Amino acid sequence: MRGTAVIATLATAVSAKFFNIQAVEDYDWDVTQWTAGCDGDGCYYDFNVSGIASDRNPARPAFLAYCSGSGEGAPYEECDLLDEADVARRVVAKLLPATRSNGSDTVAHIQVSFQYTDLEVDTTWWNFTGHGDASYNQFVAPALDFTIKPDTVAGVA
Ligand SMILES: *[C@@H]1O[C@H](CO)[C@@H](O)[C@H](O)[C@H]1NC(C)=O
Ligand SMILES: *[C@@H]1O[C@H](CO)[C@@H](O)[C@H](O)[C@H]1NC(C)=O
Ligand SMILES: *[C@@H]1O[C@H](CO)[C@@H](O)[C@H](O)[C@H]1NC(C)=O
Repeated sequence: MRGTAVIATLATAVSAKFFNIQAVEDYDWDVTQWTAGCDGDGCYYDFNVSGIASDRNPARPAFLAYCSGSGEGAPYEECDLLDEADVARRVVAKLLPATRSNGSDTVAHIQVSFQYTDLEVDTTWWNFTGHGDASYNQFVAPALDFTIKPDTVAGVA
């Protein structure tokens, strides 16, 4: 479990220097097989999310992860990485409060974050976060595919 060990070390590097970079150009994540619904205990979701590798600055590895969790406004839950990579990676997701209006057009909001160690410098890591809009489609509509556009990037060296 080399990857787990690397992430644990990085998480404690609180004295590290943070830096933010500009908007992420031409980089999206694909959400597939989104299913979400609500019951008496709250709302829940289930989907795959993937990103392709890119050598843009900062270079990033591909990933494919399976995410499921529950609770609008709940903390991040860990997604399961389904593919292999040479660097440590982590994907998390959480449901944000939905936009509700009268009628059937509730918009579910999901936030996904992808963090990985730099492809060259293993003491640096990058953290991308993005948001997507979907619906609580379980039982009423087919699974959804949509795109998440990462809107925040942070790095730590
Ligand atoms: C996620 O992807 C894996 C691997 O391609 C596949 O086996 C699984 O059925 C997918 N899960 C969902 C919810 O789409
Ligand atoms: C929905 O409609 C009801 C009854 O007309 C109204 O009292 C309520 O404020 C509306 N809620 C929203 C979110 O618009
Ligand atoms: C990315 O950074 C945010 C803010 O520090 C953190 O909450 C989130 O867990 C990080 N993402 C991952 C995948 O670790």
